[in-house]
Amino acid sequence: MNVLITGCNRGLGLGLVQRFAELSNSPKNIFATCRNMEKAKELQDLRAKHSNIHILEIDLQNFDSYKNLIKHVGDVVKNDGINLLINNAGVGPKTKTLDELEYEDLRDVLTTNTIMPIMFTKACLPLLRKASKANQNKKMGIERAAIINISSIRGSIASNTDGAKYPYRTSKAGLNAATKSMSIDLSPDKILCVSIHPGWVRTDVGGKDAPLDVTTSTMNILSTLLTFNESHNGGFFRYDGGNLPW
Ligand SMILES: NC(=O)c1ccc[n+]([C@@H]2O[C@H](COP(=O)([O-])OP(=O)(O)OC[C@H]3O[C@@H](n4cnc5c(N)ncnc54)[C@H](OP(=O)(O)O)[C@@H]3O)[C@@H](O)[C@H]2O)c1
Repeated sequence: MNVLITGCNRGLGLGLVQRFAELSNSPKNIFATCRNMEKAKELQDLRAKHSNIHILEIDLQNFDSYKNLIKHVGDVVKNDGINLLINNAGVGPKTKTLDELEYEDLRDVLTTNTIMPIMFTKACLPLLRKASKANQNKKMGIERAAIINISSIRGSIASNTDGAKYPYRTSKAGLNAATKSMSIDLSPDKILCVSIHPGWVRTDVGGKDAPLDVTTSTMNILSTLLTFNESHNGGFFRYDGGNLPW
């Protein structure tokens, strides 16, 4: 199994890499992206302990750079492809009322939380399709081929009872819309696609008052991912597997 996770130098991305690396049947390759190798000391320490971790330095806002990264990953995985893509890199909510809102806030958050994961998924498609084809005997799930979009309950329109947070809410609602379309479009390829809310977690995005730590959230996410099958395709789930309304 080959896994690719974005935004792995800190927070949930780093936690996810750690959880996968610690599995007794750890993936053959764990590709972990970061923007700046110099700011990825913990990730580098983790790689020193687990030789299946590959750190990829990439600015995901530089859409032209995806081609090189995919070529590099493709050369390592060959016909095995990528089984699991986790679009995790993202920015958090800033409290913005409509009166306070600036165009730049919307543009930047939507670029990072919505456009980036959609375009990165597009770039990864040939590798995901390869993995799905190479595992034709397996049912739909992360061991065959899957895209996991790390979304947020703030992207749930049905759960929005307190308004505001325009950039963050619209960016994650947009990502959720993409999850749904991908789940339909990629269903013939047997590539599963779901959105996950990681819980409210103590990271830069979640802040220090959040009730969950990274280990608890990522352990739960991993257990939940392992349960996914065709019936979960196109769904929105909490870190612990509970259903969320769109
Ligand atoms: N923590 C929560 O309570 C919570 C709740 C719901 C959803 N989420 C989602 O969970 C995901 C991970 O967040 P986190 O809580 O782990 O926060 P975090 O500790 O702030 O980590 C965010 C990660 O995303 C990367 N990133 C941010 N902007 C980027 C960009 N433009 N290009 C490439 N990478 C970028 C960061 O890299 P740099 O270090 O280079 O900035 C970092 O690796 C996000 O999508 C977030 O929206 C978190």
